Parts: sequence; C-alpha cells; structure tokens
Amino acid sequence: MPFPEPYRLIPIPADRHDDVLALDLWAFPSGETIEALRELPSPLSWDRTYGVIRSGDDDLLAGFHGAYPLRAYPVPGAEVSCGWLTWVGVHPAHRRRGILRGMIEHHFADCLAHGEAISGLMAAETPIYGRFGYGMASAQVSLTIPRGAALRPVAGAADLDVALEVWDAAAHGDLVAGIHRDYARLPMGLGRPGWATRETPGQRESRDTDAPSRRGGREALRVLLVRDETGTAVAYATFRRSSEWLRGGAEGTVHVREAVALTAAAAHRMWSVLLDLDLTSKVQIANLPVDDPIVSLLVDVRGAVPDYQDNSWLRILDLPAALSQRAYAGEVDVVLEVADAMLPANAGRWRVRAAAWGYADVTASDDEPDLVLDIRELSAAHLGSVSLSSLAQAGLIQARTPEALRAATAAWSWPVAAAANWIF
Ligand SMILES: CC(C)(COP(=O)(O)OP(=O)(O)OC[C@H]1O[C@@H](n2cnc3c(N)ncnc32)[C@H](O)[C@@H]1OP(=O)(O)O)[C@@H](O)C(=O)NCCC(=O)NCCS
Repeated sequence: MPFPEPYRLIPIPADRHDDVLALDLWAFPSGETIEALRELPSPLSWDRTYGVIRSGDDDLLAGFHGAYPLRAYPVPGAEVSCGWLTWVGVHPAHRRRGILRGMIEHHFADCLAHGEAISGLMAAETPIYGRFGYGMASAQVSLTIPRGAALRPVAGAADLDVALEVWDAAAHGDLVAGIHRDYARLPMGLGRPGWATRETPGQRESRDTDAPSRRGGREALRVLLVRDETGTAVAYATFRRSSEWLRGGAEGTVHVREAVALTAAAAHRMWSVLLDLDLTSKVQIANLPVDDPIVSLLVDVRGAVPDYQDNSWLRILDLPAALSQRAYAGEVDVVLEVADAMLPANAGRWRVRAAAWGYADVTASDDEPDLVLDIRELSAAHLGSVSLSSLAQAGLIQARTPEALRAATAAWSWPVAAAANWIF
C-alpha cells in the first residue's frame, strides 16, 4: 500500500485497545478518559482493524480505521456483504500527509479480498469522502415533536398492550434485535435498503450496554414494548427522559434513541405513549428514515420541525458484482460509461439489463453509452433513494437520450427510503 514515507500500515490486535482509544480521543474530542472507555465493550471487529505508525515510533498510532464485516446489508431486493468503514481517525500531528488516502486504499483492497462488493460509512464531516468515490446514498430526518401532538387514527392501536421497563440487556437485547431485524424487510417484503442491523457480537454488546458515564445527565435507558393480542412484541422504543424545571412548569424532554414498529397500529400506540409522558414537553428523535410512519401519522408535521441530514454513504467497489446483486424497480437496458480514479477495474462501459423487479446481467460493452457518470454518482444511486435524474439535473451525469435517463432512473429507484437508524 503506498503510504507516504515514513508511515506504514499494521494490523491492530485487541491488546492494543488502549492505543486505539488514545487516538480516538485525539480524533474525536470528548470529556471521556481512556480508563472509563476501556471498561466498555468495544464494537470493533479486531481482525479488521488497522493502524498507521511512523517508522521507529511503533507505540504511537498516527492513524486508525476498522471495518465491520456486514453479511446481511440490505440493498434493493437483497441482503449482501458490505465492508462498513468505521473509527477513521488521524492524529492531528500527522494530518494532511495522505494517511487517510492510504487507509482508504487499503480498506478497498481489504473489502475486495473479503468478497465485499460495496463499502458504506457514516461521515463525521460530509466533504471528506466524495473524493474517494463514496456517494451520499440516503437521508435521515430528526424530529422534535411537541408533547401531545395529534396523530391520525389507526384502527386497533388503542387495544395494544404497552410495557415500560428499565433497559436490561439480558431481558430485552434479543427481543429488540429481532424487531430491528424484521423491520429491514418491511413494508410487505419490499425491504428497506440501508437498514443495517447489529450483526457482530461486538456491535450488539456495545449497543446493549447502558454505561452511566454515557448518559449525559439523563436517566438510565428505558424501553417501551408494544405487544399484540398474542403477546408478541411488535414495536419497541428505547429512550431516556431528562427534566428541567422552569417557572412555567416542568420542561422535560424524551430523548428517543430508537423507535421501531412492525405494524401501523403498533407505531401509533408506541408514539401515543411517548408523546404523553408527564413532566415532559417534547420528544426528540434523530436518524429516522424520511418516510418513517411517524412522518405520515403526525397531523402537524411542520410543528415537529423536521431537520434533514445525510445518513449513509456508499461506495461500489466491484461494479459488476454490486450491480448484479441488487434488484431494479423497472425494466432497463442501458450502457453506462463509468469513471473510477481509485479502482480502475470499474472504469469503462457496462451494459446493465434487468426485468422489472428482477436482478441484472452486467457485462462489459463496446456500445455507445447511454449514461456517462463517475462511480461516486453510481454509488449514491445504489440504495434507490438518490435518483439518477436528480444527479443529471445537477450536471453530474450526462444522458444520451431522455428515454435512457427515464428508464434508468425508474429502474434504479426503490419504493422504500433507504436509511440506518443508528450511527456506527
Ligand atoms: C478526516 C481525517 C481522517 C483526514 O485524515 P488526513 O490523513 O489528514 O487526510 P489525508 O491527508 O489523507 O487527506 C486526503 C484528502 O482528504 C482531504 N481532507 C482531509 N480531511 C478533510 C476534511 N476534514 N474535510 C475536507 N477534506 C478533507 C485532504 O485535503 C485530501 O484531499 P486531496 O485528496 O484533494 O489532496 C482527519 O483529519 C481526522 O482524523 N479528523 C477527525 C476525525 C474524523 O473526522 N474522522 C472521520 C470519521 S468519518
């Protein structure tokens, strides 16, 4: 890997956890200490973690990155392998010398060696990753919903049982993980692209731990469960309340970490309870898919001050594999001319042929291209939520004919908005 002198990449074993935490505290400033962080379970997959050291200075990590080996990452119509880039950091004394670029080149090769045709990430700062071919592939919405906000009615919601309990990983972990996982296949089996689940034991354990040092002055984690008439849990919300006493009365906030419902009635019941907790005045939630049911159920959605942001970024690493793994929402037969400065095997002309709701044949082609685009744009469109026509309108894709753009835009789209509801 062409790292700038005098740097080189090394695998990082679990017994260097403290060094990783030390670098992480340089990369992401916080009031935490290594001593406190070391007590928490690490989400990292240690066989996929890498550091950068300077020759002669093996003890200090100048850079670090890891990958989560996801094996059921939802793309349109399928669940595929994805190398999720995470914990990227370079020590401030070693920045702007090409260490990140070297780590990205290594990450791409490492993913390909593990059979991962795509990589994803969540960006700490949005200008960083486009240059490496990552495209912003999904958006998320955050809401601040006033207490008591009216919801449109859903039949049967009021009949569902609700339990409110203090979070207990042993009692709730599997239950919540099961609902979270089942949600990836909704609605009606269409599936939600980008809905990554906690696949590795490290991710699960890290997510399930409610460390007092990480509560930020709020109460211990709580869980709300909605059960159907058979007693099966069909929705959960994890949340913490914080309280503030003002002259006008209590102004507490319900900070919802995740709220996931498998049926419309369960969603209605869950939100009705969250929106009616005494001594609070609002409910806050981030990382919602833009088409989450609560957006449609709220009578006054503007009153919930929707705030939109980028969610997942995606990078196609093996073009023919990635494009043939996903399904297409319309019939299509187009030739793409793709530029890829970092992975030349993807560059060139590719014919993509698929029947509506089917998978594609992807073959190299000498034909005139219908669409000319960079791998970044193809990656942005991969989850079906960023339209090819919007990228063409922005001048980022050149289309030969309106018919080709129309057919490709319809085929690459997906009826369910892509998003992950947690940051990892
Ligand atoms: C972001 C970070 C990893 C970059 O590391 P680095 O080793 O300085 O980056 P490089 O020198 O390899 O830069 C590669 C390219 O990215 C650009 N770049 C680096 N950091 C950037 C930033 N924060 N914003 C925009 N561009 C950035 C560089 O200008 C360079 O551009 P070029 O290819 O046109 O020359 C590092 O600054 C860091 O640790 N930041 C804090 C933690 C963080 O944000 N991590 C990312 C988590 S998703």
